[in-house]
Amino acid sequence: MAKYIGAVDQGTTSSRFIIFDQRGRIVTLDQKEHRQIFPQPGWVEHDALEIWDNTQEVIRGALAKAGLKGKDLAAIGITNQRETLLVWDKRTGKPYYNAIVWQCTRSHEICKQLIAEGGQDRFREKTGLPVATYFSGPKIKWVLDNVDGARKAVEDGSAIIGTMETWIIWQLTGGAKGGAHVTDVTNASRTMLMNLHTLDWDDEILGILGIPRQGLPRIVPSSDSESWGPTEEDGPLKARIPVCGALGDQQAALVGQACFRKGEAKNTYGTGCFLLLNTGETPVPSNHGLVTTLAYQVRGEKPVYCLEGSIAIAGALVQWVRDNLGLIQTAPEIEDLAKEVDDNGGVYVVPAFQGLFAPYWRPDARGVMCGLTRYANKHHIARAVLEATAYQTKDIVEAMNKDSSVALSRLKVDGGMVANDLLMQLQADVLDVPVIRPKVSETTCLGAAYAAGLAVGFWSNLDELRQNWEEDKTWESRMSEEDRAAGYAMWGKAVERTLNWLE
Ligand code: G3P
Repeated sequence: MAKYIGAVDQGTTSSRFIIFDQRGRIVTLDQKEHRQIFPQPGWVEHDALEIWDNTQEVIRGALAKAGLKGKDLAAIGITNQRETLLVWDKRTGKPYYNAIVWQCTRSHEICKQLIAEGGQDRFREKTGLPVATYFSGPKIKWVLDNVDGARKAVEDGSAIIGTMETWIIWQLTGGAKGGAHVTDVTNASRTMLMNLHTLDWDDEILGILGIPRQGLPRIVPSSDSESWGPTEEDGPLKARIPVCGALGDQQAALVGQACFRKGEAKNTYGTGCFLLLNTGETPVPSNHGLVTTLAYQVRGEKPVYCLEGSIAIAGALVQWVRDNLGLIQTAPEIEDLAKEVDDNGGVYVVPAFQGLFAPYWRPDARGVMCGLTRYANKHHIARAVLEATAYQTKDIVEAMNKDSSVALSRLKVDGGMVANDLLMQLQADVLDVPVIRPKVSETTCLGAAYAAGLAVGFWSNLDELRQNWEEDKTWESRMSEEDRAAGYAMWGKAVERTLNWLE
């Protein structure tokens, strides 16, 4: 068997290709950013053809850097920004519209109507999700209702619907010549259209949203020994390699962090921040604003579920401080700026830029910076910016402890922001649990590689994957209980000030 596994990570800001060896170590990597398109406030789009071009480029780039060929890979896995939605012509590969990104709020009116008719939790029992602009279902309805010809084309079978892993798998396995039209259970569980218990599209919800079933992809396990097809000989790999692993990026990080046991959790600090807790083989309903979602499924085995706390803005707040305020030149500088002071000087920032996701689910919220006095300076603001991510995570952990009735005892972390020592210390301080970073912090790609590698027998079981996980650094809390409680109470007051802004 070939010696390596490759994984595509089609993320919110860039596309990457990483090749791993048997120990789960990175052999080579290439990455390319794509444009963020903001046609009006609250709307976010990506050019799906640009993303496919970039994906091909990074595959070729990573192989070239390591002097490898496509045939050196035993299998390919895909991981992706979740919920982002595309409708395209399957005869030409031409999108009907730009991809509508998970952050986009254009389906606000659709969601408002759904909520007015049946309440925000009307689909929760079946799908695990509240009605929110975040999920793909309302985005699909928006495209079918607003883009010329899209509904008719889906109805007559010439157009198909998919999230980003579906798009990339379709392209890799032949595209318009007959690419596979599939979605894995984890991505399907983010559409608000899949029944968590049957793992099939739910006809009642499809009827309510007016989405034709025939346009949707086939739902498959995340690690699938019945490969969805080999890559094309004339594609970027120049070889026929099985494509047989796919996971939404947050679930991929859970797998990459080897959180295979009930009660194990990870938090990924990227554009947003996503905390997932493995709850085992039965879906655990949330009464405290989390979502119930699929963690992963290996073909022939029972699906594994998790509770998720989704935070829309984490690293994106640091980017905003860099791009919109100009306080820093590069994102990592936020740490140096914040380190100059010992506390936030009374300043709190709540980045409710597109409303608040978990555990509040308030589309009417908008960001605030509060507690300002003439004493406050840019260092306090920088610190409050980092604290915003730590406190948003604390909100999620509080909800998770209530929902699962087992207190989180440690938190595995990954994603770009875990290089920020101060943030990790703040996180340990406000949570009062150890925060642990693994040696391989590219857990998202690693999870997708694991899914593909398991499917072809490159790795034999989850225990073998667990042995690859190695700790790099642990942060312990250094904060007094009194300070912790006082800071969190102020955070709660700041969150309250974001609510009802649009009402
Ligand atoms: O649900 C959205 C999430 O999948 C986006 O992840 O890492 O691309 O910001 P990321």
